[in-house]
Amino acid sequence: MTTKAASAAGYITDVAYIPGFYPHMAPAALSYVAALNRVVPPAAVSGFRYLELGCGLGRSFTTLAAANPGGEFIGVDVNPEHVASIDRDIAAGKLANARAITSDFAGLPADIGRFEFIALHGVFSWVSDDVRRDILAIARQRLAPGGLLLVSYNSMPGWAHLQPIRGILRQYAQLRQGDSVQKIRDALAYLVFIRDRHARYFDDNPKAAAYVDGLLKQDIRYLAHEYLNEHWTSFYFSEVAGMFGGAGLSFVGSLPVFTNFWDLCVRPEFQELFRTTSDRLVTEAHKDFCANTAFRWDIYAKEPRLMASPVDRLELVDDLHFHVARPGITLPHAVNLGVVTSTIQGPLYERLLALLGGPSRRLSEVVAAPELQGTPAADVIRAVDAGVAMGIFELANSPLEPAPSAFAGGVSLPSAFNRAILVSDALGGRPVALASEKTGSGHTLGDLDAAVLHELFEGGRGGLVERVESRLVATGRSIQQEGKPVVDAEARRQLITAACDAFITSSLPQLVRLGIVTAT
Ligand SMILES: C[S@@+](CC[C@H](N)C(=O)[O-])C[C@H]1O[C@@H](n2cnc3c(N)ncnc32)[C@H](O)[C@@H]1O
Repeated sequence: MTTKAASAAGYITDVAYIPGFYPHMAPAALSYVAALNRVVPPAAVSGFRYLELGCGLGRSFTTLAAANPGGEFIGVDVNPEHVASIDRDIAAGKLANARAITSDFAGLPADIGRFEFIALHGVFSWVSDDVRRDILAIARQRLAPGGLLLVSYNSMPGWAHLQPIRGILRQYAQLRQGDSVQKIRDALAYLVFIRDRHARYFDDNPKAAAYVDGLLKQDIRYLAHEYLNEHWTSFYFSEVAGMFGGAGLSFVGSLPVFTNFWDLCVRPEFQELFRTTSDRLVTEAHKDFCANTAFRWDIYAKEPRLMASPVDRLELVDDLHFHVARPGITLPHAVNLGVVTSTIQGPLYERLLALLGGPSRRLSEVVAAPELQGTPAADVIRAVDAGVAMGIFELANSPLEPAPSAFAGGVSLPSAFNRAILVSDALGGRPVALASEKTGSGHTLGDLDAAVLHELFEGGRGGLVERVESRLVATGRSIQQEGKPVVDAEARRQLITAACDAFITSSLPQLVRLGIVTAT
């Protein structure tokens, strides 16, 4: 569907973006962050409307629509090539609950209605002030009361030493001929040239010099969209909070989940700063400096309904199910989440690990479990949340049983969307996300694993290794070991055999658990 003539307002449209799935965009992820920050979220399992602004090629959009058949999804993008690609995925995946619109943000259909969730990823930093005003107008007018909005952006101070990289790339690219891909290629070659010859900027900013190596590994289409737009800004948290505040929205929290726990984000010597203020707007600013944050995923709410106590969640928001993230987690469990290494340990976590290692449980079921009697509900809730933040527990939209220890049967893929994605994306050189209705989110497989799953589904276990190998050869995709392509046929066969075995023993039972794969 296309609305009246759309304007990209300085955003590049001559090169399509790259497909990517971002689990932070799942309605359940937004609702969970709201709940742990004592804001009553909208229902995230069914009966909601979800709007994605600037949905690109729509891999998050369509995967989430497939994973949440009880929600209605609308995606908007100014680039008709993007929307045409999404339309193909909607048709192939038989997604009756998703619709993509070619439009700029100013031209949304007047009757588009209101949404419980609005999300924009990779957009806010890359558009003009006018387009940001259009986005804020949509936030003001189209977010339902109690609704949640997710916005990601390049943030300060993490971008401070890298800003000139964008400046150099764009200025050089403007002097070059060709499409945006050619221009960014030329600009990158120039960047490497001056870096390798020790231009003083790079010698004075060694992290910027190292950053260039990271750029060389990125998809060139990503680089074109990241660096060649006319507008590009990195914001302080307070600037974005001010803009959304002006649109009538309040800051709720952020993703990943650990960013809501300042003690997981900053070193102990800074923690006194945080103890002396309870103003979240102030702590976020401190945190970004202590952690040198370069990218933020922030959640805002319209007319948020606040809970007086974390225990109110048991009454007001009990639709999510918690479970152990993967087999084999033991305590103490230490994780470095970027700046500090934090450790989970102690009897409460031991009991939670045992309890949630079985079938998943709602928060009310966890608190009521006989194993946890005597522990105050607020302590149990905080421990579950900290466990999610540290990656030992995960969320689901509906009950999950533990993964089977082995899966010997034939493989069936109940979702038409997942079947279509496997056909189009396996061995495409990038990760493949499959939709799970049980979690309301997507789950990412490496592209070789996706090819193994596809072959298992198409032809069963007989001759699996040979079939995967001939697909590899047919697509020209090499298999790598220690970063180098393996050319020896025998070595390649051994690696593919090992990959098939590992997929069947480790990944397949998890996919069964998530309902992505069922037995035939
Ligand atoms: C960097 S991409 C991000 C795509 C997607 N959200 C993702 O993360 O994969 C930004 C997207 O915003 C779209 N966009 C930029 N300005 C727009 C505008 N004024 N109206 C509608 N879409 C716009 C672009 O076409 C592009 O697809």
